[in-house]
Amino acid sequence: MDAEDYINANRKAWNEAAAVHSRARGREFLDKIKAPGYSALDGTVTGKLRQIGFEGKAIVQPCCNNGRECISLRNMGSGPVTGFDISDEAIAEACEFNKIAGSDCEFVRSDVMDIGKQYFGKFDIVFITIGALTWLPDLPKFFKIVSSLLKPDGHLLIYEMHPFLYTIPCLDEPNFDADNPYKIAYSYFKTDAWVTDNGLDYVGRSKYQSSPAYSFTQKMSDIINAVVKNGLMIEELNEYAHDISEIYPFLEKEQKLPLSFILIGKKN
Ligand SMILES: C[S@@+](CC[C@H](N)C(=O)[O-])C[C@H]1O[C@@H](n2cnc3c(N)ncnc32)[C@H](O)[C@@H]1O
Repeated sequence: MDAEDYINANRKAWNEAAAVHSRARGREFLDKIKAPGYSALDGTVTGKLRQIGFEGKAIVQPCCNNGRECISLRNMGSGPVTGFDISDEAIAEACEFNKIAGSDCEFVRSDVMDIGKQYFGKFDIVFITIGALTWLPDLPKFFKIVSSLLKPDGHLLIYEMHPFLYTIPCLDEPNFDADNPYKIAYSYFKTDAWVTDNGLDYVGRSKYQSSPAYSFTQKMSDIINAVVKNGLMIEELNEYAHDISEIYPFLEKEQKLPLSFILIGKKN
């Protein structure tokens, strides 16, 4: 399979996941998202957004899913927000949430590798969060696009799961060992794709027979190299012991491992 095959397969799998997530969230989510000041963003990333002065700034979020974080940014006082996602269904939901929340984000169904040139140089901040990078088979190509999206001196803010987590089975996996939850079962240097056909329900944690979805272990060095080799300077890299994935909560207790990170970059 080549990069395009992986991405086409993932579009199908993420389209299937949208309805499953929507059911798991329930209609009460609609009340949440329309509440004034709604934000899905935690204090850690909100603090970093304030540090880089996000208020009034034009922000783009690749892999925005149902737009909850884009709507949050707008509620918190950002300038215009654009979200891109490969999933037709997630973008349809994002448009619905946008209306319900009375927000004015722009949502575009697109592979992030194919973002149109009309968006280049338009943004002050590229915002990438939880569970986005792992779906992208070609990080250097992706960060070239990220760099193109930014205005000169624009910022990149990544808030992601720590890559080390890809070595440890999460709760729902057969390799998970309750007696030794820190068991390293997979190589940090895995280069072939992960494939799953039992669903992508990180909301309700249900299992269902799904189209195959392909993801990748992106090492910290892969991320850093792809950033710095595409005209972006790293201003900060912070590692945290809290879980943002919701699939590794059991690793938080002892605060032994890095579970998430924030990278702040700036366009040279
Ligand atoms: C785990 S979700 C992101 C969740 C989001 N950070 C949040 O917390 O709401 C990953 C998203 O990446 C999207 N995605 C995967 N590959 C993509 C691609 N090549 N281009 C655009 N979006 C992609 C999926 O459709 C999915 O919506």
